[in-house]
Amino acid sequence: MSEASAVPTVLVVAVALIDPDGRVLIARRPEGKQLAGMWEFPGGKVEPGERPEQALIRELKEELGIDVNEACLAPFVFASHAYENFHLLMPLYLCRRWSGVVTAKEHDGLAWVKPSKLSDYPMPPADEPLIAWLRDLL
Ligand code: CDP
Repeated sequence: MSEASAVPTVLVVAVALIDPDGRVLIARRPEGKQLAGMWEFPGGKVEPGERPEQALIRELKEELGIDVNEACLAPFVFASHAYENFHLLMPLYLCRRWSGVVTAKEHDGLAWVKPSKLSDYPMPPADEPLIAWLRDLL
């Protein structure tokens, strides 16, 4: 077995919440976490037995306090990045409709940002390539 195949693959789902002005929500990872201070697309790990969409709905409730209907989640593009200890696979969904007020429950900052300005924010290496996709789309 090669060393590369010993690195686990982790499936994380993420979302670009898009507001009526075409701005996208990013959230800052808090102190004490890996990649602290980086601005990420919200989301999290898919638990065993969960479908990706279910996982994202759960994470959005836990992290941002909002409710999302599965029909409002449009799968968009896959990010893939080899971190030191694991290989991240991360589909990004688009979502324009949710209920509740977006609140930072697990992050230490939230920002609604035009896609053309996303590159001003330091992001995890897995998230960075998604910026260009969003710029082209929105
Ligand atoms: O936040 P936490 O580290 O507890 O776990 P997570 O949100 O389930 O994400 C697992 C890992 O995926 C993070 O530690 C990051 O390395 C990575 N990640 C990322 O690169 N970009 C994201 N938008 C979300 C997570």
